[in-house]
Amino acid sequence: MIDASLVRDAFAARFGAAPDVLVGAPGRVNLIGEHTDYSGLPVLPIAIDRGMTVAASATEDAIVTVASRQFRKEARISRRAVGRESEPWHRYVAGILEELENVAPRRGASVFIDSDLPASGGLSSSSALSVGLMSALSSAWGDAVAGEALASAAAAAERRVGVETGGMDQMAIALAQANHALRIDFLPPAYRLVPIPDGLSFVVAASGEEATKGGAAREAYNERVVGTRIAALMLADTLGVDLDGVPLLGAVADIDAASVMVEELPGAMAPRAAANASETNVDRIVSLSAAHFDSSKKVPVKAYARHVLSEAERVNAAEAALVAGDLKGFGRLMNESHDSLRQDYKCSTPALDKVAAAMRKAGAFGARLTGAGFGGYAVAACPPEAVERVIEAATAATGGPAFEVQASDGVRLL
Ligand code: GLA
Repeated sequence: MIDASLVRDAFAARFGAAPDVLVGAPGRVNLIGEHTDYSGLPVLPIAIDRGMTVAASATEDAIVTVASRQFRKEARISRRAVGRESEPWHRYVAGILEELENVAPRRGASVFIDSDLPASGGLSSSSALSVGLMSALSSAWGDAVAGEALASAAAAAERRVGVETGGMDQMAIALAQANHALRIDFLPPAYRLVPIPDGLSFVVAASGEEATKGGAAREAYNERVVGTRIAALMLADTLGVDLDGVPLLGAVADIDAASVMVEELPGAMAPRAAANASETNVDRIVSLSAAHFDSSKKVPVKAYARHVLSEAERVNAAEAALVAGDLKGFGRLMNESHDSLRQDYKCSTPALDKVAAAMRKAGAFGARLTGAGFGGYAVAACPPEAVERVIEAATAATGGPAFEVQASDGVRLL
């Protein structure tokens, strides 16, 4: 995390006085439980020791000015006319302001942001921005939003921007604690801290491919959301379970027969056909926060469901392995997760496969892609004495960067 005093100085240089509040908002690395959150199934991330540092002061006009060392073009948004921003990162700021519309509505703010988190890397720089900004603004306005309320408001703000998100990133960034992983459940919502045992270190490594949130990557993400909803609907029909609202695999995952019935699912199906077959409204399947998915487009169903249901079991097993100090078992589950993401969920890339394989060969207990995939970062769990070797091997495989991360506190006032 960028040193708070540097950010305080940068704020003072830009705005002419020291900031009222300073907030550190970390990035996150998901250890296991990938592409499960939007099915209502568990995840096991950590917050890391890199992130966004946000300095803010309230002003008495209704203008929010956000300057940053990383982002081009300052944002200057009137709270009375939010919503016409063209610069992509300004839209994140606008989404936050819309979520905070009832907090001190007549006040504005001066904000400066600095970051040591790689952008577009899959380490959740966008959620670090939204959680950090929301925390800093609401604190400066004297009505701090924190904890689960902060996580869900930040997720809602990102959905306003058109980013489909399952909610893991914002929860991890809002609620994680140092030296712990955070087990998060969504159906019903719950979370618990899981201590990281001695002898377990983490390295993250870039694939060299950007993991963007727009364009083809967003389409690919949405297709998987839709495929899992079709699977949930069909499994619920077969198992005689009534599902309200959006069909989630999490609603059928605990039924023993579900993992057997998965093999009976169609390889691919269009949302329209699935809705007809179960006599339901297709909107339940295709309506997303940002987009309306083409209901005549066939999407994979069986393989996506197989990944999600098996991944949820691996989260349980991985938590148990951490509790038991079974580091090799934990690493094995990470490898299985990666294989399932590669073979069934089809969200790995040759570069992610290569860097994960290189880290395993250099002595990691296990390695896997982390985040949505389609590029971005991989994470390895390894013995502390292998950290240097693993970093070197990852850097040789893709050109880096690769670095160790510590399980750290979530968002906090500095
Ligand atoms: C992105 C989303 C998360 C989660 C992961 C995949 O990071 O923001 O909510 O769905 O992909 O596990």
